[in-house]
Parts: sequence; C-alpha cells; structure tokens
Amino acid sequence: MDPSKYDYRENFDKVHGILMYKDFVKYWDDVETFQARPDDIVIVTYPRSGTTWASEIIYLICKDGDVEKCNEDVIFNRIPFLECRKETFLNGVKQLNEMASPRILKTHLPRELLPASFWEKNCKIVYICRNAKDVAVSNYYFFQMINSYPDPGSFPEFVEEFMHGEVPYGSWFKHVISWWEERNNPHVLFILYEDMKEDIRKEVVKLIRFLGRKPSEELVEKIVQHTLFQEMKNNPCTNYTTVPDEIINQKVTPFIRKGITGDWKNHFTVALNERFDVHYEQQMNKCTLKFRTEI
Ligand code: A3P
Repeated sequence: MDPSKYDYRENFDKVHGILMYKDFVKYWDDVETFQARPDDIVIVTYPRSGTTWASEIIYLICKDGDVEKCNEDVIFNRIPFLECRKETFLNGVKQLNEMASPRILKTHLPRELLPASFWEKNCKIVYICRNAKDVAVSNYYFFQMINSYPDPGSFPEFVEEFMHGEVPYGSWFKHVISWWEERNNPHVLFILYEDMKEDIRKEVVKLIRFLGRKPSEELVEKIVQHTLFQEMKNNPCTNYTTVPDEIINQKVTPFIRKGITGDWKNHFTVALNERFDVHYEQQMNKCTLKFRTEI
C-alpha cells in the first residue's frame, strides 16, 4: 500500500496501544476518570456493528415505547457518545455530566479501556457485535463518509488495515474477544446483529428483560415498528442527516446504508475472502463465540 495515501498519523494517535482519533486522545483523562452512576445503561460496540439500531431500541424501552420521546431530539443528544471529543463543540463527557439520570450512553471502547467506574457501579452494559466481514465493509463506507478520516484506499487495502487493527478502536478480533470474556457477568448482555436481523422480536424481548422491564406484546410491537431499517433511515432523529456535510458527508454514502447481513459478498474477491478466513481462524480459534456471515 502507498503509505502517503493512507497516512494515519495526521488524524489518529494511540491510546494504550489502540488507534484512536487524535482529538479524543487529547482529552483521554476525562474519559478515564469518568464517573458512572449505578443506573447508567452502557451500549458498547465495535464501530458499525448496529450501535444506532440498538440505541434506538434501548431508548424506547426506557421510555416505555413512547415514540414521541424519541422524536424530541436527535439520537446523539439523547444517547451521548462517551469518548467523542472535538475541541469545545463536541464533548461526550460534558454532555453526560450535565445529563439527568437515568442516562443511556454509547461507546466503542474495548473492555480494557472502559472507565473503571462503570464496573465499580455495576452498570448494565449491552454489547452488540456483528460479523467481521460486514463490519469491514460498513467501516470502509464509513471512512469515506467522515471527512476527517483518511482516504481508505481500495477495499482490499482497507481490509488489510482492518485485519491488523490499524483502524480506530483497533483490532475487531481483540475487541470482540475482550468483551466475550465478560459474557457470564450478569451486568453484561451480549447481542448479535445477525440475531437481530433474523428475529428482532426475540432480541427486543431479551433487551427488555435485561433492563428489568416487562415485555408486553404492545411494547415489543411498537419498538419493532419504530426501529425498522427504512423507518430509521428516513428519520432525521436517527439518520445523522442533521450533522453538517463537513463532518459526515452522506452524499458519498448514507450513514444508515444497507442494513443487511452478507453485503461482504459484494466486496470480497475469492482470494481476499480466503486470506481473511485464514487470518480469522488464527485470531479467533480459541474464542467460543461463533458468528454467522449469512442468514
Ligand atoms: P451497513 O453499513 O452494513 O448498512 P452503527 O450504528 O454501529 O454505526 O452501525 C451502522 C450499521 O447498522 C450500518 O450497516 C447500518 O445500515 C445498520 N443499521 C442501522 N439501523 C439499522 C436498522 N434499523 N436495521 C438494520 N440495520 C441497521
């Protein structure tokens, strides 16, 4: 790969060995010392794994299915992004500190970077994960959409970086494994994007129960209808279209893009797929978590 075309140094830095946006790293103390509250709900994902979808579902659960409450504000104000920081105008920590309880927040941090306070306060944590190939594809488009990101180059070039964790939030493999080790922690719920795609009602019921509420048919149905792919794609409160083009340029590709399992087949060549499978096996052979790449 031509290094000048894919120069991360300008935009990214490392925090505890993991690649991260420079602006986030600059204020990392604020993230590390973040003070959780016992009733915080934490949504954790590797980027592009279904964060926004799960976030809207969880928000609705906490609002007893009241769709009006979802439409009062954009999702990134209702559910702040913990580590997000851009000088003075974007500050997830500040947003959260000023927010009344109960709070719902999102983060993309691997297990070892989650602020200690969330563990000390026994907060409920939902980890959403998605198969690596579709995550790679979705991130490839995401890179093209975010103006402050470097040009990801060709898809095979990007996949190479993705496989070696040279992307923000580091290795998908390490991220997933780090969280899978928490699977027996009663405060952590694991949800797979592919399971959501296959049977959303079942996963919504799981989430409702985990959050200590009753899964009435009416509540489940309201949530399912409001969070359909097309609904969220057209909804300015969830589709990020209110963010200026200078930050997220959705003319290139929409934030809520295809929402399917198996789009990787349209991007991976046979050779790239074989290479990826070998690498995947090396990284994941000790992990008991199995993903589906088609449903
Ligand atoms: P694709 O790029 O494959 O379409 P995140 O919210 O973590 O950034 O994840 C974004 C991915 O979730 C995108 O995947 C997006 O289309 C998908 N997504 C968002 N809302 C969805 C929904 N309601 N149903 C299914 N997929 C959804």
